[in-house]
Amino acid sequence: MAIQGEITLPGDKSISHRALMFTALGDGLSRIENLNPGADVSTTKEALRNCGIKIEDKPGAVHVQGGGLRPFKQPEHPLNCGNSGTTARLMMGLLAAHPIHVQFVGDPSLSKRPMDRVFRPLQQMGANVSARDRRYLPVMLSGRDLWALDYKLPYASAQVKSAILLAGLHAKGVTSVKSPAFSRDHTEQLLRSMGAKVKIDGKTVSISTLTKPLHAIDFVVPGDFSAAAFFIAGALLVPDSELIIRNVGMNPTRTAFLSTVLEMGAKIDVVNQVEHHGEAVSDLRVSYSKLKGVTIHPEEIPNQIDELPLIALLATQAEGETIVRGAEELRVKESDRINSVVTNMGAWGAKIFERPDGFSIEGPTILKGGLVKTFDDHRIAMSMAVASLVSKLPAVFDNPDCVDISHPGFFSELRALSS
Ligand code: S3P
Repeated sequence: MAIQGEITLPGDKSISHRALMFTALGDGLSRIENLNPGADVSTTKEALRNCGIKIEDKPGAVHVQGGGLRPFKQPEHPLNCGNSGTTARLMMGLLAAHPIHVQFVGDPSLSKRPMDRVFRPLQQMGANVSARDRRYLPVMLSGRDLWALDYKLPYASAQVKSAILLAGLHAKGVTSVKSPAFSRDHTEQLLRSMGAKVKIDGKTVSISTLTKPLHAIDFVVPGDFSAAAFFIAGALLVPDSELIIRNVGMNPTRTAFLSTVLEMGAKIDVVNQVEHHGEAVSDLRVSYSKLKGVTIHPEEIPNQIDELPLIALLATQAEGETIVRGAEELRVKESDRINSVVTNMGAWGAKIFERPDGFSIEGPTILKGGLVKTFDDHRIAMSMAVASLVSKLPAVFDNPDCVDISHPGFFSELRALSS
């Protein structure tokens, strides 16, 4: 059934985490509208509350009482980061210069994801950290005075870049991070708009010591581009679809999926662009399109890293071959997303081939539908829900509730548009 109508999506998950964390360092009360309602962002909210930050859920907005330069108190309990890599990694950077002892714990998926990529540079700045098998949660952090660091990241990771920049806010001197490729820059944009001294020089970002609190803000979180991507994919795949998506965050470090699908032949109009705290926002008009295969090169990966499962799906319905290379970071997401995608799409009849650093797909093929192994990964569940719009049989999920991590209400909203 065609996807038709209009939709507004939850606030951007990456920006929501950051808005909560940065306003804690504010000089007064901040109001955040359209905060992402998913479990990951609630995890950040609870972690901050556990460190003494006053956060109130008011009608229409979340209020955060900024506590100035050093707002964090000794937490009474371990910080439970749940399923959220962004909570664990950014909070490590944020807390590293505070004289508190914090234990970071997480769910089974997060406990398998590497944390040494964050705490090694923090150790070089002077933080005292220990971890299970020197790599994984639980991580014990004892914050203390830090010195600045010039760090060359071995991979393009916005989470690691952000953690180092946040530690740099309280380190002595100018901290800089050089990335091998561009990654999402929400940290840089929001910190700068709140008064931090942030310099961006190509792929190197520098930050100076914060000498006064950040400005409190009134902020409306843009709609989540990554959430929009599922609906974009649905409208592109189902004949006769016409969908309008309102208020989508269009930060260029997030929208490479759009460039990829346009190259595949997608019909999408971007209209009504505005800007708020360094973040562009637009409406999108998406129509059913005949697609062709595409090759995605390693340098194009970071800015569409979360959308690659959807590219795999679109490729199964596109004419010709699609190749995704240089995407080995997918193996350390909420699940090993190369394996999760190949397992599910392969079981539904796609001609998909696993590579160490990505996959290749020959399309078009008919998708059978049936059982979905979500691997408890929200983006795998949502990608397969979109796949089921064009499959012969409906999808049956082993854990449909995992979509609540980023988009509670996803299934009913998708159903409402396709009826
Ligand atoms: C995120 C960055 C990305 C992304 C994740 C959220 C962020 O991870 O996959 O969903 O909010 O900074 P990496 O930067 O580690 O690749």
